[in-house]
Amino acid sequence: MPAFRASILDFIANPYETGEKSFRYFKDGLLIVEEGLVTACGDFASLNKTLSAEIELIDYSGHLIMPGFIDTHVHYPQTDIIASHGSQLLDWLERYTFPAEKKFSDPVVAQETADFFIRQLLCNGTTSAMVFATIHPQSVDAIFAAALQQNMRLISGKVMMDRHAPDYLCDTAQSSYDDSLALINKWHKRERLLYAVTPRFAPTSTEQQLKVAQQLVNEFTDIYLQSHVAESPGEVEWVKELFPWSRSYLDVYDHFGLLGDRSVYAHCIYLDESDRDCLAKSGTAVSFCPTSNLFLGSGLFDMQSALEHGLRLGLGTDVGGGTSFSMLKTLHEAYKVSQMKGYNMSPLQGFYMATLGAARSLYLDHKTGNFETGKEADFIVIDLNATALMKRRMSHCESLEDELFVLMILGDDRNIKATHIMGECRYQRDNLKS
Ligand code: GUN
Ligand code: ZN
Repeated sequence: MPAFRASILDFIANPYETGEKSFRYFKDGLLIVEEGLVTACGDFASLNKTLSAEIELIDYSGHLIMPGFIDTHVHYPQTDIIASHGSQLLDWLERYTFPAEKKFSDPVVAQETADFFIRQLLCNGTTSAMVFATIHPQSVDAIFAAALQQNMRLISGKVMMDRHAPDYLCDTAQSSYDDSLALINKWHKRERLLYAVTPRFAPTSTEQQLKVAQQLVNEFTDIYLQSHVAESPGEVEWVKELFPWSRSYLDVYDHFGLLGDRSVYAHCIYLDESDRDCLAKSGTAVSFCPTSNLFLGSGLFDMQSALEHGLRLGLGTDVGGGTSFSMLKTLHEAYKVSQMKGYNMSPLQGFYMATLGAARSLYLDHKTGNFETGKEADFIVIDLNATALMKRRMSHCESLEDELFVLMILGDDRNIKATHIMGECRYQRDNLKS
């Protein structure tokens, strides 16, 4: 049974609602873990007295322990096309994404990429993720197998796509039902893994396939759904043409019963008030993907509006439309996007969104997202002084919030000293090359 000594920070509420009361911070703290779960978190001075002789004390003094980051939207098969130059969403999908995803019919390619992807998550301090695979069932097997090996909490599913994509990437309504069902039976709730029904986005599914997605969601009440909505102007126009009866893009998904608890939609840029009300009432979650939205020139997400509506909100890297696996870099871009929209995101809001906020958006906050007793001990050890510049800048900080802001703006994978899953160290910066 290990215990970890360091400065410790976690969130217990949304800073947007509770401000300073939203977090706990122990300058000299102790996190005690038993069988992968948190048994205590507090001041070293008081908890140290309770430690029994057989406890293994791991000393990370001088560093900051936080809950692991949760990436609520990312595509593992797009790892190899990150940073592909030159177009907006629909053109980028055809030029780079679809040819890249074709390769995942090969289980060897899928497994090698999945293993690499999981290592990228770990070295960036991401301990949980909601992940798109491709239309190939073997691509789902590969990502779940890779996550299982690290004992990670990960949500994924087979892409459903039966039109407006190359033939080599199309399934049918029936085959997407059959394949998804078989994968659910194989993987859903195996260890820490969870399945998400995954229609890519409305333009690449027939109405028949969207009905099939609804059927799957209804057959398994605890299953997830992930998709994209209202990302780029061209896409929004296309949806209007394809679904002329719909009130809005989001309304297409609502019509097919695809909003609700455990439904997660990436982007959500081009929404109106009625759409936001609909997301709030239905408990549907939003994944804000700033690096992708900037890279593809898609638009600026309105975070203030999302907070005002009380939406369940997480952050997604959206690799390969997104340009980094680092949630720190993603927070940096989220800050800038919000600045452009007239909302000044505090570092507390940012780190909440990357941890407990994300867990809440995924209805997983009873399991992960902070260090309450009984939660799964997924945590990261952050080196605030990882570079000469950061060390110099940190020396001028006068408060925890100052330090978190510098971390959010200057931080990247170099700041992640170690990543622990269920208490176990799965990545160590100074030992492992990734
Ligand atoms: N919309 C439909 N598919 C995709 C995808 O792969 N990436 C992004 N960013 N948007 C999408
Ligand atoms: Zn995406």
